[in-house]
Amino acid sequence: MPLVNPMPMLEKARAEGFCVGAFNVVDYLSIEAVVEAAERKRAPVIIQTSSATIKRFGIENIVTMTRMAAAESTVPICLHLDHGTDVSVIKEAIEKGYSSVMIDASKLAFEENIAVSKEVVEAAHKAGLAVEGEIGLVAGVEDDIVVNAEDAIYTTPEEAIEFQARSGVDFLAAAIGTAHGFYKVAPKLNIDTLREIRVKTDFPLVVHGGTGLPTNIVMELVEAGGAKFNVSTQIKQTYIDSMYGYIQEKRDEYNILKVLDAAKQGLADMIAEYMTILGGEGKA
Ligand code: 13P
Repeated sequence: MPLVNPMPMLEKARAEGFCVGAFNVVDYLSIEAVVEAAERKRAPVIIQTSSATIKRFGIENIVTMTRMAAAESTVPICLHLDHGTDVSVIKEAIEKGYSSVMIDASKLAFEENIAVSKEVVEAAHKAGLAVEGEIGLVAGVEDDIVVNAEDAIYTTPEEAIEFQARSGVDFLAAAIGTAHGFYKVAPKLNIDTLREIRVKTDFPLVVHGGTGLPTNIVMELVEAGGAKFNVSTQIKQTYIDSMYGYIQEKRDEYNILKVLDAAKQGLADMIAEYMTILGGEGKA
């Protein structure tokens, strides 16, 4: 089916207490793996790309690849721009077929973040697209965005409410202590704050930094009110490890299609497992 606006799946997730998995793809193979997992689990899903992936392939090619992979799907699939920091790139994604975009102006001061986010919201809403904003600051490395752990800022319920009301973003990344990339030490999570924001607001909330969180913590974040759950680094690790494992085992085979299949199956299995943990199974 054609790519869809994520709001219906996110509203449903918020209302029914599950998370839509949002997976950062890096090429066509990883897009196919996400679609395969979503079909297998009958789960709604968000395929998302960082600006680095956009730089590599170009917006039009990513849109074409995602539409191709989703064409035969029977579950809702959305194409989202993750951590957009350059408004001109975001506007291009809006024009060229993304289903939603994130404006990440979280490094700016509160008022500036509102102003930039509002500009994106106006452009996106005119085109019928939804927007994710961020208030607070998620630590870690997400491709070319780097935030040191000591600079992380936790989101407060008051800020979340004011930011969403004034910027008009449709769903919001709340910084509650999760971080992009592998955790070197156990993160200090404010799960109660997520719960409080969920209770005091009526829009879907996004949990960033999904890689490396233990299953019980992921389930707690779902229960506390996350509606969208982002996974990026784990995609890269599983992709490389699946290929490497196959090549190690069949060192003399030199059948590239089998290597690619091993990567795709490794990815689809890992993504499907996330969908089950996030409660998205059967929710398409
Ligand atoms: P991880 O790389 O830690 O999975 O974080 C993903 C993310 O939040 C993308 O925005």
